[in-house]
Amino acid sequence: MKNYLAVVTLCMVSSMLVNRVAQCVKTRSTYSAKMLGFSWENCGKPDDPAVLKNLALSPDPITIPGDLTASASGSTTVELTTPLAVNVTLEKEVAGFWVKVPCVDEIGSCHYSDVCNLLNQLIPPGQDCPEPLHTYGMPCHCPFKAGVYTLPESGFYLPDMDLPYWLTNGHYKVQGVLGAMEKELGCLKITFAVHSNN
Ligand SMILES: *[C@@H]1O[C@H](CO)[C@@H](O)[C@H](O)[C@H]1NC(C)=O
Repeated sequence: MKNYLAVVTLCMVSSMLVNRVAQCVKTRSTYSAKMLGFSWENCGKPDDPAVLKNLALSPDPITIPGDLTASASGSTTVELTTPLAVNVTLEKEVAGFWVKVPCVDEIGSCHYSDVCNLLNQLIPPGQDCPEPLHTYGMPCHCPFKAGVYTLPESGFYLPDMDLPYWLTNGHYKVQGVLGAMEKELGCLKITFAVHSNN
């Protein structure tokens, strides 16, 4: 259960795999939600080896359940290999202040010691990578070789799903810092707002 929830969080924060929320979030009561005003930026040092170059999601708002179109590209100048740590900071705006959502059941502002391990649990090695990664020959396990990774515009259906209890109306900021051996490799910041009937 612990690992499962970690995977859920990984899915929610991993920008490129936003579509995966649909496949991996299974926690609390089912309800519909709209995600709007999605934006992203790299927040690392200029010489960080891993950067996102493009991430486009449409429509705006994104409705769950509903259709999502996504494209993304990113690059890394170093091989990303195990252990690959990620520190997530999740904040919600409450009465004009940004309040950190704590790490509870491995969801929220959590530290993950090895994302490679989580990927292996989510997608058993030896199995085809999930679509559309498989179609475009993109890897879904460590190590990720140095290079440029591009996901062309792809359509997804976000099914009815259970979302975390804290995902109520409001503005959110998520920052993920990727690192290995005490070195920062990349940093991504995502902001969005949620309108839900939660
Ligand atoms: C994550 O946070 C811990 C504790 O603050 C720190 O020791 C570690 O270096 C951080 N890792 C990354 C990838 O930022």
